[in-house]
Amino acid sequence: MPDTKHYTDLGLTNTKEIFKKAMAGGYAIPAYNFNNMEQLQGIIIGCVESKSPVILQVSGSARKYADPTFLPYMAMGAVQMAKALGAGIPIALHLDHGDTFELAKSCIDSGFSSVMLDGSHHPFEENAALTRQVVDYAHDREVTVEGELGVLAGVEDEVSHEVSHFTKPEEVEAFVEKTGVDSLAISIGTSHGAHKFKVKPGEEIPPLRFDILEEIEKRVPGFPIVLHGASSIDPAYVKMINAYGGKMDDAVGIPAEQLRRAAQSAVCKINIDSDGRLAMTAVIRKVFAENPAEFDPRKYLGPARDELVKMVKYKNEHVLGSAGKA
Ligand code: G3H
Ligand code: 13P
Ligand code: ZN
Repeated sequence: MPDTKHYTDLGLTNTKEIFKKAMAGGYAIPAYNFNNMEQLQGIIIGCVESKSPVILQVSGSARKYADPTFLPYMAMGAVQMAKALGAGIPIALHLDHGDTFELAKSCIDSGFSSVMLDGSHHPFEENAALTRQVVDYAHDREVTVEGELGVLAGVEDEVSHEVSHFTKPEEVEAFVEKTGVDSLAISIGTSHGAHKFKVKPGEEIPPLRFDILEEIEKRVPGFPIVLHGASSIDPAYVKMINAYGGKMDDAVGIPAEQLRRAAQSAVCKINIDSDGRLAMTAVIRKVFAENPAEFDPRKYLGPARDELVKMVKYKNEHVLGSAGKA
């Protein structure tokens, strides 16, 4: 069991204020997933250099990978690193796709400032009851909670869904009221991973369902909405991966213009995992292909981290609009 501490002891912040400012300012807070030191440093350096608030996000399996005891200290290290770099940006540590009360509680008790309870695969009432249980525990400790209504296509951690079930706007008000959540993840056509759509040559990527988002905004005005599965799957990285021995055919993501539009709406948090994985993998493949004798991890993880910094800065500046908002 990780030792018990409160997120404020680690220098972290919950999502309340940063969402309020994002909503008023028409931008979104980036939520970047990480599971190792180079990813974490790349995210922090990128956010410090672009002066952006950030949500550091870990799934249950990423937490296990990094080690539940070690992980909060990584986040604490990130806070200190940001300060040493000269910018005390707001940093939240968030559980991504938590699926049980016990997991959410364990994260809160170990220093997370925000948790997601993803009960979207349960029927409405069950989802609401489980989410409420987490909210009650979290709010007593000033930890913020994200819920989810509607199911994304693709893989949500261990739960796989062939098709997506868009969020039903008419359920949102009751869910927000019953659960007391601080933000809500919705399904409007995004999905997890690097293969978001099956598009034949010459075919357009189907646009996100902004009509559903607008309907939700009408029903819960000013309430923070979250977009999962929002990587753009930059074709340049896919090309690089394939050029240096990889095999990522038909990888396709959400066009940046659609994310820009979402960021200006009630969408206050945009989740990005796959794009960071792609950036690092592309560079690591290149280093190995060009230097087959290399075996010092710094020589491939270092350039991969540098690439992640570039990617994070680009997203904050040109897609989410969070640059300069810290
Ligand atoms: O939404 C899921 C995230 O991309 C995390 O995935 O379970 O492989 O860490 P993971
Ligand atoms: P991507 O796979 O599109 O990066 O989505 C990540 C995500 O939603 C994490 O919760
Ligand atoms: Zn997700």
